[in-house]
Amino acid sequence: MPPGDVEHHWPPLAIRIRVGDVALRPVREGDLPGLLDLLPDDVEHDPTSELFDGLDLEDNRRRIFLQTYWRSAGTWSPNGWWLPFLVTHRGRAVGVQTLEGEHFSELRVVDSSSWLDPAARGRGTGVSMRAGILALAFDHLGAEAAVSSAREDNAASLGVSRRLGYEDNGISRSRSPSGPCTLRHMVLTRKAWETAGRGRTAEARGIEGCGPWFGL
Ligand SMILES: CC(C)(COP(=O)(O)OP(=O)(O)OC[C@H]1O[C@@H](n2cnc3c(N)ncnc32)[C@H](O)[C@@H]1OP(=O)(O)O)[C@@H](O)C(=O)NCCC(=O)NCCS
Repeated sequence: MPPGDVEHHWPPLAIRIRVGDVALRPVREGDLPGLLDLLPDDVEHDPTSELFDGLDLEDNRRRIFLQTYWRSAGTWSPNGWWLPFLVTHRGRAVGVQTLEGEHFSELRVVDSSSWLDPAARGRGTGVSMRAGILALAFDHLGAEAAVSSAREDNAASLGVSRRLGYEDNGISRSRSPSGPCTLRHMVLTRKAWETAGRGRTAEARGIEGCGPWFGL
């Protein structure tokens, strides 16, 4: 393997997932300009993120998006990883789907987050892209459960979870950029994933060589 082969030395970049017309591959530096243009107004930034004085909220949100992307590679550890995927629908970039794990090799639990260009919503892409990363997690990385949390008024995010077989797992109060809110937590077990048979609709490849990155 040539020493300059980035995917060889950072194998998660080689992962490819397809669910029907929806394809996922890890976000690369060259995707950032297009994603900055697509980033919708209703994607809330992490309330623990610092807002820089002198930048308006929109510029801060885009800066936080960039910094979170760079941090994901810069702080990657088998004990804590966050992998953002570029989502395309029939070849057109439409959003981002992440997969994340904390102490994954011990706990076998994954979390996720996502957003789509508003023009691409409401036609099942949200379900397909989540199903894609769940297929990677359950069928290739050995996850035992997937969790997801959304504000209780986020019907689309909760709709994706319910459609994929997640069950209610309680609520909590949380800080958010627009003030305190109630989060609804959902959980999908391996048994429910396998029973639903969603994995059969997804193809994931390029996972060879990724074991050390996920602590496996
Ligand atoms: C969350 C998001 C990725 C979902 O993607 P999507 O493509 O719109 O969702 P889908 O078309 O796959 O729909 C999934 C389910 O939710 C339901 N749903 C979607 N939008 C809905 C809405 N606005 N109100 C009520 N139900 C909705 C759908 O009917 C579907 O359920 P069903 O299959 O049982 O009918 C997208 O709406 C988005 O980017 N939202 C803004 C960012 C965000 O909130 N991200 C999640 C943060 S936790």
